[in-house]
Amino acid sequence: MKLWGGRFSKETDSLVEEFTASIDFDRRLAAEDIRGSMAHSRMLSACGIISGDEAKSILEALAEISEEIARGEMQFSAALEDIHMHVEKRLIEKIGPAGGKLHTARSRNDQVALDMHMFVKTEILATEALVQNLQSVLLQVAQANLDVIMPGYTHLQRAQPVLFSHHLLAYFWMLQRDRERLQDSYARADLMPLGAGALAGTTFPIDREMVADELGFAGIYENSMDAVSDRDFAVEFLFNSALLMTHLSRLSEDIILWNSAEFNFITLDDAFTTGSSIMPQKKNPDVAELVRGKFGRVLGNLVALFTVLKGLPLTYNKDLQEDKEGLFDTVDTVKISLTLYAAMLRTVKVNSEKMYTAVAGDFASATDLADYLVVKGLPFRDAHAVVGRLVGICIEEKRRLVDLSEQELKDASALFGPDAKAKLTPESCIAARRSRGGTARDAVEIQITAARSALSRSRLERQ
Ligand code: ARG
Repeated sequence: MKLWGGRFSKETDSLVEEFTASIDFDRRLAAEDIRGSMAHSRMLSACGIISGDEAKSILEALAEISEEIARGEMQFSAALEDIHMHVEKRLIEKIGPAGGKLHTARSRNDQVALDMHMFVKTEILATEALVQNLQSVLLQVAQANLDVIMPGYTHLQRAQPVLFSHHLLAYFWMLQRDRERLQDSYARADLMPLGAGALAGTTFPIDREMVADELGFAGIYENSMDAVSDRDFAVEFLFNSALLMTHLSRLSEDIILWNSAEFNFITLDDAFTTGSSIMPQKKNPDVAELVRGKFGRVLGNLVALFTVLKGLPLTYNKDLQEDKEGLFDTVDTVKISLTLYAAMLRTVKVNSEKMYTAVAGDFASATDLADYLVVKGLPFRDAHAVVGRLVGICIEEKRRLVDLSEQELKDASALFGPDAKAKLTPESCIAARRSRGGTARDAVEIQITAARSALSRSRLERQ
């Protein structure tokens, strides 16, 4: 007999049972479910809705059930639908009719909302900590390679020399905003829905604040219909995760390019690459590729939940059960991606000579040559044209700008003096970009100080 079987005169069709059950995935919420039930039963007894003895036996049995589940002893079955029913059924099995009192003043609608809030809160903290860890690795690698010079790119064309550390720190700041977004979102997950009942509240004299306090929630939902319908906090987590994965995916693209034979800017450690079953020489950057690829499912999970919510009338609809698998999948995907990325970057070998050769053998200092003429009074547009012609000559004659003689420069513009050639080294280009947030070593050092203080700041208290 089902816990809700009273008004039914027929068995549920077995395919329907299988189709509507969520136990295969929501068993993951067992710990949250039991903690929530414990808080609820304490509150019921404190409010005189059940007796102290009943609460005591419920609490003891729930603790045992929690251990049974942890030991893998609970028999899960689609006939019992979801984790809430499994726990309640087992409770009644263990302590008899007193177990049937646990569900007083509660519905699975507010119960599942509570479990989901608790889960998301935990995972915001766990994800935020992993982001912070990856940031600290980026900072370490940047500091260890502070003076390494590489080409900076626009359109994937060599553009201007930059410090490798500057390039890495760009990702540090993306992750900083990701972390702040996670921190900010915590407040919205930190609302306690229990006590909404099925949708309209309850006839029992409950104390919702007591439950919120015990479970460590900052506040409660003010509206019972909102409380059982809301999945904003899950959407927000999925969005924050998708944006975070976008950043990791862009980093992956850089890593994959840099690790290619064509670039050869870095060498990934053997432990973080894989081989080919046919080509013996291959060493593939699979971790970076998969992180890039897994963005697809993370975005998919966000779009899926948006789509589930968009047309739903208030309040609970079974559609909402679709909120879980995508969320779990995103949590797992993001956490393993962050963990692997930190380990992979920690062991990366930086091929600084290759980077330097790539920038020194190119035209990345062209802007600086134009800027030289601007300082001498030429309008930037004219300076651009002068240097553009010089670049054209060099390309034709297979030379570099540094190979031009003082006279050749003078012929292009009388404003070029003997000090012009010194502007052409990558070192000089970098040293000249001292504007705040620029790539000069001094500016990068200021940036690193700011990064260190951002890293140690957390608006969240870790529980
Ligand atoms: N398994 C359900 C879910 O995840 C729990 C809530 C079910 N409520 C209901 N009235 N059928 O959404």
